[in-house]
Amino acid sequence: MALVAEVGKEQKGQDRNGLEPLIALVAEDLQAVNRLIVTHMDSPVALIPQLAGHIVAAGGKRLRPMLTLASAKLCGYRGERHLGLAACVEFIHTATLLHDDVVDASDLRRGLATANAVWGNKPSVLVGDFLFSRAFQLMVTDGSLDVLRILSNASAVIAEGEVLQLMTANDISSDQSTYMEVVEAKTAALFAAACRVGAVVAEQPEAEELALERFGRDLGIAFQLVDDVLDYSALQAELGKSVGDDFRDGKITLPVVLAIQRGNDEERAFWRRCLEDQDHQDGDLEHAIALMQRHGTLEDAMAQARRYADSASAALDRFPKSATKTALQDIAGFCVDRAY
Ligand code: IPE
Ligand code: IPE
Ligand code: MG
Ligand code: MG
Repeated sequence: MALVAEVGKEQKGQDRNGLEPLIALVAEDLQAVNRLIVTHMDSPVALIPQLAGHIVAAGGKRLRPMLTLASAKLCGYRGERHLGLAACVEFIHTATLLHDDVVDASDLRRGLATANAVWGNKPSVLVGDFLFSRAFQLMVTDGSLDVLRILSNASAVIAEGEVLQLMTANDISSDQSTYMEVVEAKTAALFAAACRVGAVVAEQPEAEELALERFGRDLGIAFQLVDDVLDYSALQAELGKSVGDDFRDGKITLPVVLAIQRGNDEERAFWRRCLEDQDHQDGDLEHAIALMQRHGTLEDAMAQARRYADSASAALDRFPKSATKTALQDIAGFCVDRAY
């Protein structure tokens, strides 16, 4: 299977240093997960493996499945259930990316043209549905109602987060608490579930389950806060996604919320024209970035991300010292320092 070798390959120009300790720790399991992903995205309907294979083979960090694998390992799990569940988590993630790129009209993902740019919106939405369904099949194969509850709740919450974001886009009165609600739902819920099911398969007491859930949630919040900063500050070639999409779409992310709050009347009129009226002129993105710099809002969003990453790290305090615990705590640092 040629695809297996392709899966998880590095995107061009990317430095995976920050992720390496975690990758090294779960390398063998991750290969098994990548094989499961390829097997389960197969279908007699050729467009499905073609389109799914495009986004899967483009790589991605595989952060969420690695979290499931490492969480199970942290809890001393010795079986194989975590492999199917890690694949399931990546299927949920991939399905949301296919749908998200349609909703956000994005044309670059993982350094390649998005599926919607190559095949159009309709196949992307439908193959996203297929991958969601595959995720549910993997949950049923696992057979645990607890796992089914945790991952199906996360799927519903992600969809709610995406819809809430859609409803609050283009509204400059949208505030920080609404932003946090969106982030917790669209991103942190899956990070939390990915970690929690690692404890569930290892049959840990509830306190350990909840500690891993909190680790995942706070890590996910930090991850999305940084993602929203990168949308204004990253190098596109390094990020593998288009920079400036959030501004073009009128998304009210934290750096924007703070800039609007701290801006004078003239600045607010600028934000209203760009984000609410969607009336864009040459140089607007550069001006938006200059305003964020004037008010220090990218730094403040990063400081908030750092606080969540620290809180994630602290959530693991109850686990005894181990290489896995250190690798997971280092991931919190990676999520803040990442450039992709
Ligand atoms: C992208 O997630 C979606 C967000 C929550 C910002 P990742 O940055 O983990 O995407 P891949 O899987 O590595 O491409
Ligand atoms: C991604 O949100 C969250 C989900 C996929 C549910 P974004 O729209 O902010 O992420 P990118 O920038 O497209 O990866
Ligand atoms: Mg998007
Ligand atoms: Mg989006």
